[in-house]
Amino acid sequence: KILILDFGAQYVQLIARRVREAGVYCELHPWDVTDQFVREFAPQGVILSGGPASVTAGHEAPRAPQSVFELGVPVLGICYGMQTMAAQLGGQVENATVREFGHATVQTLGESSLFGELCDQKGPRGESLLSVWMSHGDKVTSLPSGFFISAANTVTPIAAMTDETRHFYGVQFHPEVTHTVQGKALLTRFVRDICGLGGDWTMPHFITQAVQAIRAQVGTDDVILGLSGGVDSSVAAVLIHKAIGSQLTCVFVDHGLLRYREAEEVMATFGQHLGLKVIHVDARETFMGHLAGVTDPEQKRKIIGREFVEVFQREAGCLPQAKWLAQGTIYPDVIESAGSKNGKAQNIKSHHNVGGLPETLHLKLLEPLRDLFKDEVRALGVELGLPSEMVHRHPFPGPGMGVRVLGEVSPHFVDLLQRADAIFIEELRSSGWYDQVSQAFVVFLPVRSVGVMGDGRTYEHVVALRAVVTSDFMTAHWAELPYDLLGKVSNRIINEVRGINRVVYDVSGKPPATIEWE
Ligand code: XMP
Repeated sequence: KILILDFGAQYVQLIARRVREAGVYCELHPWDVTDQFVREFAPQGVILSGGPASVTAGHEAPRAPQSVFELGVPVLGICYGMQTMAAQLGGQVENATVREFGHATVQTLGESSLFGELCDQKGPRGESLLSVWMSHGDKVTSLPSGFFISAANTVTPIAAMTDETRHFYGVQFHPEVTHTVQGKALLTRFVRDICGLGGDWTMPHFITQAVQAIRAQVGTDDVILGLSGGVDSSVAAVLIHKAIGSQLTCVFVDHGLLRYREAEEVMATFGQHLGLKVIHVDARETFMGHLAGVTDPEQKRKIIGREFVEVFQREAGCLPQAKWLAQGTIYPDVIESAGSKNGKAQNIKSHHNVGGLPETLHLKLLEPLRDLFKDEVRALGVELGLPSEMVHRHPFPGPGMGVRVLGEVSPHFVDLLQRADAIFIEELRSSGWYDQVSQAFVVFLPVRSVGVMGDGRTYEHVVALRAVVTSDFMTAHWAELPYDLLGKVSNRIINEVRGINRVVYDVSGKPPATIEWE
């Protein structure tokens, strides 16, 4: 396995993704892990990521644990990772007067096994050139002993360095981003050819291992899991079921704020089709009762979150033999909560995930997806027989339609919203747009507007369509859906959902708007 040390690079997760895509298992850890941690981890190769710091800051500058260079395994330093490698092994790094940012071309030099025959273009004299992505101010100005220059361009004369004896490599550019044309091939060479790892990180392999691990972990105990219908909890449920069958009980809380017919679908897929034990808790009235008269978005979120925990706890109490609580925690959740030490971001919205249950349950945690990225979870779901449509669904917030009916939530408004939303999603799917947007839904506005239908005046509700394109949900663009598609959706909603006579399209980006309206 590969150890990736994170120096705070923006795209550090991409390095891990590329390594996993090469079929090699890797883990991401902060740069300040101890030497003991590194030795116990026993990596077969180490990657040092980029980062915003400057090696020239002296003692302040983050450094790799020195043990990384003493393990006798290959090390690849990327950008800051290359600079700290150079500095720690006796080379020199300086603040460059000219920064290099964006597309660049470097010429490969000498015979570095990191590059081998990799080349995406030839220069006028037959030189091997690589198109790469650069983003740096500092640069290595003198090599540590044992290294030679393995790539260069005029701005950055030491764009890559190699020590073939110790198998140490540094690249100033970023192989993890797609702008570096041969980046993926380069990382694959490093982990497979140089570190000699086999490429056995595949889904069927993961399933075999995970099934064994789950059995060993829980033994003959019973496990409960809060099934939400979302991708992560669904995949976790099916995986655990594969491992321990009827020792798993899923609790599905229907708070009445799900998508159109979602409760029936979840019960049909998991209960009937896949044969899981699913307790369907119809808590619609309880939730609606608590939400009555409440209009403040934060208060609504808190009520839904609290009520969810209460209902789940009550159900768990009915299963006293359960010793484990299973959750669909995935790797980005793990990294995010580990990395959030410094500074608290302002609370824009109180998020609640169906997984976030309190410690008062006195259950041990079972999290079989902790090592997986989202797309790996999806691939796993498909491999385990979940319908591809379910596995590739857009995200849906824990409080569901509760934050999409603006203001006070009533069963009637939820019903109108669910039906309008189903029409929008159906049209997105049939036009091929569903997979081109990251998230799409309808929002119910608690205002009425005047319209005319047939010969009569109408005075009915308004809904807004929302569709966004984003890679991380932290920032987002509104999706430029074709007018004819928007027109069709609008017509269908107004004609088929009595009570709605106007449809508008939300053209706000995030920031300054958020994706959800509440
Ligand atoms: P915002 O509205 O903050 O949403 O731009 C960003 C993403 O988060 C989802 N979201 C939630 N997900 N529990 C969740 O699991 C929540 O309480 C919650 N609130 C928002 C939202 O749908 C979007 O994908």
